[in-house]
Amino acid sequence: MKGIQVAQYVKVSLVLCLSFISLTRSTSKGPKELKVTELADPKPGPDDYLIEVHAAATNFFDILQIQGKYQHQPRNLPLGVGRRVLGHRARHPGLQQNPPKFPVGSRVFGASQGAYASQVCAREAQLLAVPAGWSFADAAGLFVTAPTSYGALVLRAGVKAGDIVLVHAAAGGVGLAAVQVAKAFGATVIATAGSPRKLEVARAFGADHVVDYRDPTWPDQCIAWNGRILVVGFAAGSIEKVAMNKVLLKNISLVGIHWGQYAVHEKESVPVVWEGIGKLIAQGKFRGTTFTDNEYVGLERIPDALLALGGRETWGKVVVKVPQGTQSKL
Ligand SMILES: NC(=O)c1ccc[n+]([C@@H]2O[C@H](COP(=O)([O-])OP(=O)(O)OC[C@H]3O[C@@H](n4cnc5c(N)ncnc54)[C@H](OP(=O)(O)O)[C@@H]3O)[C@@H](O)[C@H]2O)c1
Ligand SMILES: *[C@@H]1O[C@H](CO)[C@@H](O)[C@H](O)[C@H]1NC(C)=O
Repeated sequence: MKGIQVAQYVKVSLVLCLSFISLTRSTSKGPKELKVTELADPKPGPDDYLIEVHAAATNFFDILQIQGKYQHQPRNLPLGVGRRVLGHRARHPGLQQNPPKFPVGSRVFGASQGAYASQVCAREAQLLAVPAGWSFADAAGLFVTAPTSYGALVLRAGVKAGDIVLVHAAAGGVGLAAVQVAKAFGATVIATAGSPRKLEVARAFGADHVVDYRDPTWPDQCIAWNGRILVVGFAAGSIEKVAMNKVLLKNISLVGIHWGQYAVHEKESVPVVWEGIGKLIAQGKFRGTTFTDNEYVGLERIPDALLALGGRETWGKVVVKVPQGTQSKL
């Protein structure tokens, strides 16, 4: 007999799609034009914490923001560049709350516009305590990636032991967080990424199997009965297409997540998610994902960090360390 036998497909029960907004990532002009200059010290309002910045994480949307192309563009210019995620130490000269949640000297991380500076102001709701034993750099990378992946996998898809989770772009910031959360919940993880180094990193963070999706022969995933497809982002620039007949035939759930909007539409879930992440950290099941192949120290290095990020050269979170004592600001 002659015949063609198809090698067995892997049945994945959960697919995590990570890739970005509708712009391509070949934007490299913007960051080079950023210059570190002397700025007036920020003036904290009555409810603000004044934060000493020790580390600032870079995000693809920073590149969009400095070009005025981000979907949540801040209205007031000039904007302090660098929208979010810092590791810092809290001081609160203007704070009227009594007692403040974070006393002077606390190690906190969070999000605030203008974080590419040696100081920034932030409200209490934008801050969290740095996990015990964590560096500022690792904490700086936690604020967006960890809750996005935890929210997607746990709240939206109900990940559980026995699931096979396919994480696309697994070596990115959100991807490495997803690999760790899925493993922590007992799933088997298949990670895709675009270079041998990135596959090695995905494995180091717990992926059971890795696939280079730049290899044109890589098999299409074959989603299992009752599978869930999680739409998290479009980093490659184009919006993915899903065969709707499969969604019907296999009783598939197709769900999205917009983590940033949870603080607006479902506030009560935010502390639940952070509590869950805190537990994983305490159990040693979730660690920082700071990119370590290259080190970026000083605000002057932010353009280089953004260029490396935009050029798809990095993995995990690219974090710029900001040594205190230098007064320079971007
Ligand atoms: N839904 C939400 O609430 C939410 C929250 C945060 C982030 N996101 C989205 O999630 C996605 C991942 O975010 P992230 O912070 O993990 O980003 P990231 O660290 O920059 O990782 C993105 C990954 O995408 C892959 N990629 C594929 N095609 C690419 C291209 N043309 N250019 C650059 N990278 C490409 C890269 O890996 P390879 O080189 O291995 O392909 C890279 O590691 C983004 O689209 C982001 O907007 C969504
Ligand atoms: C179809 O999917 C829904 C939602 O995940 C699930 O509750 C239901 O049990 C599934 N049906 C079958 C027959 O597996």
